[in-house]
Amino acid sequence: MMQKDTPPVILLINGPNLNMLGKRSKEHYGSFTLEEVENAFTARAQTLGVKTAFFQSNEEGALVTAIQESMGYASGIVINAGAYTHYSYAILDALLLCGLPVMEVHISNVHKRESFRSVSVIQAACVGQIFGLGLDSYLVGLEKLVNEYVLPGKTKKDPDGESDKPAADLPIAEAADSPEAETVISVSESSESSAPSPSLSDLRLQISQVDAELMKIFNRRMDLAQEVAHTKIRSKTAVYDARREAEVSGQARQCAQDDMGTRVDSLMKTMMRISREKQYDILLPGDNNWKIGQALKEARTSLDFIRTAAFGGTKGSYSEQAAQKLFPDARKLEVHTFSQACELVLSGEADAAVLPLENTTAGTVDTVYELLQKKSLHIVRATSITVAHVLAVLPGTKLSDIRTVTSHPQAISQCSEAISQYGWSSLPSDNTAFAAQEVKRQADPSVAAISSEEAARRNGLDILPVEICNTSSNQTRFIAVARELVITPDADRISTLIHLPHRSGGLVSALEIFADRGLNLSSIFSRPIQDTPGEYSFFLDFICPAMGKDALLALYQLSSEMPYIKVLGWYVEK
Ligand code: DQA
Repeated sequence: MMQKDTPPVILLINGPNLNMLGKRSKEHYGSFTLEEVENAFTARAQTLGVKTAFFQSNEEGALVTAIQESMGYASGIVINAGAYTHYSYAILDALLLCGLPVMEVHISNVHKRESFRSVSVIQAACVGQIFGLGLDSYLVGLEKLVNEYVLPGKTKKDPDGESDKPAADLPIAEAADSPEAETVISVSESSESSAPSPSLSDLRLQISQVDAELMKIFNRRMDLAQEVAHTKIRSKTAVYDARREAEVSGQARQCAQDDMGTRVDSLMKTMMRISREKQYDILLPGDNNWKIGQALKEARTSLDFIRTAAFGGTKGSYSEQAAQKLFPDARKLEVHTFSQACELVLSGEADAAVLPLENTTAGTVDTVYELLQKKSLHIVRATSITVAHVLAVLPGTKLSDIRTVTSHPQAISQCSEAISQYGWSSLPSDNTAFAAQEVKRQADPSVAAISSEEAARRNGLDILPVEICNTSSNQTRFIAVARELVITPDADRISTLIHLPHRSGGLVSALEIFADRGLNLSSIFSRPIQDTPGEYSFFLDFICPAMGKDALLALYQLSSEMPYIKVLGWYVEK
C-alpha cells in the first residue's frame, strides 16, 4: 500500500482491452495509445496541482484489488472500466467501498453505440460520466473530478501561471479523436448544488447534458414520425395537416415560459417540418403517383434531338451568338420576338429557342420570365456571353451628328450613362441587330444603333470610337428552352416556378425545405401572378446533380405543400 501523499494523488484505472488502444477499432477509439493517455493525464494533472497513479488490467479481480488498495493513497479515481462498465457489480461494489470520488470516463460515445453500452452499472458509484471526447474524456474527467471534488474552490493555474483554461472549454470537435465523439455528460447533481456560481464550463456541461436528453427525446419523436408515415401510407392521408400542426403548436405554447410563446412556436414548426421531411423520405420511394417525379424519370437525357434552334433577332444579334454557342450544328431560325421563338418550339417547327434571361447591368428580361410563367416550355441548357455594344452609324457620321440612339430596351439601359451624357433620345427596337438594320434603312445620320460589332459590320455601318456601355464586363445569361424536359447527366441546376401559400412565413417555409436538404439556392426572383393581384410566383434555382436524391425529396415535399410548383428545367450552364 502506498502512503497518502501531498499533493493529492488521482488514480487512473483502465479496464480490459484499453491496453490495446492504438490498435483496437480506431473509428471508436482513435489512434492514440494508452501510454499517450497516461502522459497527457500526467501533464494535465500537473496543471491542476495533483499527482497521478496508473493501473490497467484485463481482469476483473485485479481491478477490484487496485480499487481497494487506492484507499490507502489516492484522493480520487478516474476510471474507464471498459466493457466491465456494463456488467461488473464487483467493480461497482469496490468503488462504493473505497469511498473516493470517482469519475467514469469513456473514449467513445457509448450512448450512440450498441444499446448495452449505454448501460453503466458502475455509474451509481461515480460523481459523473464523461464520454465521447476521445482522449479528452480522460482530461475533462480529471479536471472535473479535481476541481469539484478533490480540490474544490482551488484556482486552476497552468505551470507557467499564464492561463487557467479549463479542459471543458476545449473546442469539442478538436478535442475529439474519435469521429463520433461529440458529447460530454456529467451526471453529478451534488456538484451543481455545492457550486455557488457556476462557471462557463459548468454551464456548458449542463447544456450538453440537456442537449443529450433533448436528442433522446428528439429521436423518440422521429421514430414516432416514422410510424406515422407508415400509417399514412396505409390510410392514404396527406403528410401535411395544417390543423393538426396548429393544435400541436397550441399545446406546446401552453407549456411555454412567459414571453417564450413565439419561440416555442418556431421550435415546434421546425420540429414538425423535420418530422414531415422524415415522412417524405419514407413515402417517396413507393409513390408512383407523383406526376413531377414521373416526368423527371421519363425526361430525355440528351440534347441530340435539337436540330433547329430559333432565336429572337437577326444575324449579328447576341441571341444568334448564344444560339451558335449552345447548338453549333443546329439550323438557326431567326424570328422577330422572343415570343415568336417560343411559338416555333411549341408548334414543333423548332426544337429549341434561345432566349436572354438576365443581364449583369440591366437585370432580368421580364418578357422571357413571363414566357416561362405562361408557356409549357422547359429550360434545357444555359450559357452566358459577354455583351460588348458598339455605337453603329451611317458611314461618315460624326458623334456630334447623333440625336437619337435605337436599340433593344435592355441595351439602352446597359448604355444609359453615355446616352444621358450626350443628351441623346432613345428609340426602342425589338433587337439590337434589328436596330442596326433600321439605321441602315432610314439612312438618317442623326440616328445611331447600339448593337454588336457583328451587326454593325453586316449592315455596312461605321463604329464610332465611344465607350458606350456602362461597364466593361457586361454579360447576358441565355437559356435554351424545349417542349420536353431534358436532364443530361452533367445537369447541376434546377429551375423551379413556385406559387407560395398566401400566409406569413410562406416564402421561408419553401426556403427551409431547400436548406434542410442541404441544397444551395442560386437565384430567386418573383413576378406577380396575372389575374390574382397581390400574389406572386417565385422562380427559385438551386444547385444539385442530375436526379440527386435530396433535390427529388425537396421537390416532392414542395409539390405536396405548395399550391403550385413546376420544374422549369434541370440542366447545366455551359
Ligand atoms: C469504452 C466503451 C466500452 O463499451 C468498451 O467496452 C470499451 C471502451 C470507451 O472508452 O469508449 O472497452 O469504455
